Amino acid sequence: MNKIALLLVTAVFAFAAKFAPNSACKECHPLIYKEYQTSQHAHATIYKDPIHKAVWEKNPLSKKNAYKCAKCHTPAANNFKELIAPNGIGPDPHNKTQNDAVACAYCHRIKAIKEDLKTNHNIISPTPKKYFGTLKDHIKSPFHQIDTSNSNFLQGNVCMGCHSHKRNKFGLNVCSTNEKREIENANCVSCHMPKVKGSVSTLKKRSHHAFHGFAGAHRYQNMLARYVDIEFLPHLKGFEIAINSKIPHDLLLHPARVAFVSIKVVRDNKPVWQKKEILVRVLGANGKPTPPWLAKEVVKDTMLKANEKRVFKYDFQLQKGDKIVVALGYKLVKPPLAKKLGIPSKANKTAILKKRAFTY
Ligand code: HEC
Ligand code: HEC
Ligand code: HEC
Ligand code: HEC
Ligand code: HEC
Repeated sequence: MNKIALLLVTAVFAFAAKFAPNSACKECHPLIYKEYQTSQHAHATIYKDPIHKAVWEKNPLSKKNAYKCAKCHTPAANNFKELIAPNGIGPDPHNKTQNDAVACAYCHRIKAIKEDLKTNHNIISPTPKKYFGTLKDHIKSPFHQIDTSNSNFLQGNVCMGCHSHKRNKFGLNVCSTNEKREIENANCVSCHMPKVKGSVSTLKKRSHHAFHGFAGAHRYQNMLARYVDIEFLPHLKGFEIAINSKIPHDLLLHPARVAFVSIKVVRDNKPVWQKKEILVRVLGANGKPTPPWLAKEVVKDTMLKANEKRVFKYDFQLQKGDKIVVALGYKLVKPPLAKKLGIPSKANKTAILKKRAFTY
């Protein structure tokens, strides 16, 4: 297909659906498109995310097929209103606009964010093909207009319409990046979309572009490892391990997660002592864990907090030459919950965010 025909086809497509499809961006932004396809934003549907699917199927709303999750998981759906209503119309694996998940054009049309109690709301620009961005010296695009005056894009926090908080019917904040509104000015993009090599588009050569794989807990953790430090401090009797977070939000946010710090002392190539600290936030009611939609309180919270330095003290007597191996890792879903939900183990592997070894 020549370029003009392709543009025509994509233009017709864009008109039929409310948002231009992700595939329309591929031609001119091949690198960004490719990265995006690996991101959790591209996998936010029940068909591509087994964890989301399992939790959705347990949610009472699924019996009514009221897929309210669409607001953040498939916001570009062309039947959005029907999808969220309790009318028997549920997610459809053949609907292309639903498969576009957190779509390119949706995100780039977020004009403003309206704050609200239960969740925030994205206000979408009514101009179908005007995309917000931050490249002040951009060239013209033959496909769309470009607007670089949107303050949420300029501050790197256009994410807060979906990521700020989510309260259940009891008013409990079940998933919060921004519980105490302490990170209103944190630039999410600086850490989660770092500049990587390769051009923004095929039409003008540039050395770097903003990474669209969205480094997070599912993948590309290595890009985020530098925002936590592991420190070792020996004492006369025993030693200390400190986990020093430079993250403006809690280490992990979704209530299904569990993180750990494992510490192992190796002497003459043999482990002689080990310990595992669990970092977790458990929601529940009457002191017992419940699914998030039934939770009335935080039952337990040992998660590493925003910018916290957590110090663990041990009285194990080290000997000269001992090697102390420390790892900060996590699982996306707490193992007992994963079992209950029937989540395949390959979707819930142990991930390591940071590992360090010290010699005494
Ligand atoms: C206000 C926006 C919003 C709504 C509405 C929403 N989610 Fe989410 N959801 C998110 C965000 C943002 C994340 C990523 C959170 C993170 O990784 O910390 C997420 C992640 C998840 C995850 C973790 C997925 C994984 O692979 O680890 C599950 C499970 C989930 N959501 C279930 C649901 C279900 C079920 C619904 C509907 C009943 C729903 N969500 C509605 C914003 C939302
Ligand atoms: C026919 C080619 C073409 C197509 C198709 C295309 N773009 Fe672009 N886009 C461009 C060019 C050219 C630029 C400017 C690049 C530069 O200055 O380096 C651009 C820039 C952008 C910017 C950056 C704006 C800024 O200032 O930061 C965004 C966002 C964007 N495009 C989104 C999209 C999305 C979303 C799609 C698909 C729905 C898409 N584009 C499809 C050519 C295209
Ligand atoms: C339209 C809603 C929406 C917007 C806007 C949005 N996200 Fe997300 N994001 C989600 C959902 C939903 C998920 C979880 C998908 C899943 O796991 O099923 C997610 C997942 C993520 C993850 C992956 C977490 C993990 O566990 O790997 C990162 C990182 C992330 N988002 C960062 C951002 C950043 C940075 C921005 C702003 C530039 C942003 N998001 C804007 C809805 C959104
Ligand atoms: C200083 C760097 C930094 C900034 C700024 C930052 N984050 Fe993170 N974020 C991290 C690190 C590090 C992790 C942990 C990743 C891991 O454990 O694999 C993380 C994890 C996440 C996750 C996954 C949590 C989960 O439970 O799955 C989401 C979603 C996220 N951040 C969204 C945001 C949003 C939205 C903003 C802006 C308000 C933001 N982050 C600002 C560094 C940062
Ligand atoms: C979750 C929201 C989100 C999604 C989804 C998203 N983008 Fe972006 N995109 C951004 C943000 C935020 C920036 C600005 C990055 C910065 O300021 O460094 C950006 C920047 C860009 C740029 C300019 C590149 C640069 O280096 O500044 C282009 C082009 C672009 N996006 C195209 C796309 C295309 C094409 C897709 C889908 C394949 C897509 N975006 C999906 C949020 C998103």
